[in-house]
Amino acid sequence: MIEIKTPAEIESMRKASRVVAEVLQELKPLVKPGVTTAELDKFAERRVRELGAVPAFLGYRGYPATLCVSINEEIVHGIPSPKRTVRAGDIVSLDMGAVIEGFYGDAAVTVAAGAVSPQARRLMEVTSRSLDEALAAVRAGARLGDVCHAVEKYAAANGMSVVREFTGHGIGRHLHEEPSIPNFGRPGSGPVLKAGMTLAIEPMLCLGGADVVVKNDGWTAVSADGSLAAHYEHTIAVTEDGCDVLSRAS
Ligand code: MF3
Ligand code: CO
Repeated sequence: MIEIKTPAEIESMRKASRVVAEVLQELKPLVKPGVTTAELDKFAERRVRELGAVPAFLGYRGYPATLCVSINEEIVHGIPSPKRTVRAGDIVSLDMGAVIEGFYGDAAVTVAAGAVSPQARRLMEVTSRSLDEALAAVRAGARLGDVCHAVEKYAAANGMSVVREFTGHGIGRHLHEEPSIPNFGRPGSGPVLKAGMTLAIEPMLCLGGADVVVKNDGWTAVSADGSLAAHYEHTIAVTEDGCDVLSRAS
């Protein structure tokens, strides 16, 4: 069952999502050569709490941090470490969730550290635009498959592959709710979207193949062929004529 949220519940989700958006904005300029991923995580945790929220990932299924920091061929769920230093030319995906008033927000961006290769820049652009394409497909009456297909179509048209092992998800009272939202699908398939459904849509694209390997830490997902990956995510509410992006910085 895909839960419909009340306007008041959506406002709580907007509060949580805005904290995520704000902290991601603040993190962007800190993603510079020399910073460790643990430093980024400590900053994120402090700012989430200062803004009156609770980190959503910390302790979730044993995840040990506030932030996921996934560099280059790492796709998602990179665990922050004092031993991992960002280097010039890296692309760094930051993924974070927060809870306020019992409701969740979740968002991700990929950031360039220093000057990155033209291919890396293009991967970031295409992944970010594939999220825009997905958002443009959201409205009451559309089918979930329309949204999933929009990502796949845009990625394929730009010669990039879509990760199939990880998906977006419903969100609200829990970090992960129904439905699961793959970044591929058939138009006209899947559940009909209704106003008040709240979704976390999160394209993960690779420059090479999309096969995934999870490292020995049990979390870090990397592209099997070592090709670069990017990840963008927004938490949204479905509206009658489109979508309300809850994780947009105010
Ligand atoms: N945005 C990711 C997701 O929704 C982050 C989850 S990381 C975890 O699945 F640590 F919380 F698992
Ligand atoms: Co998510």
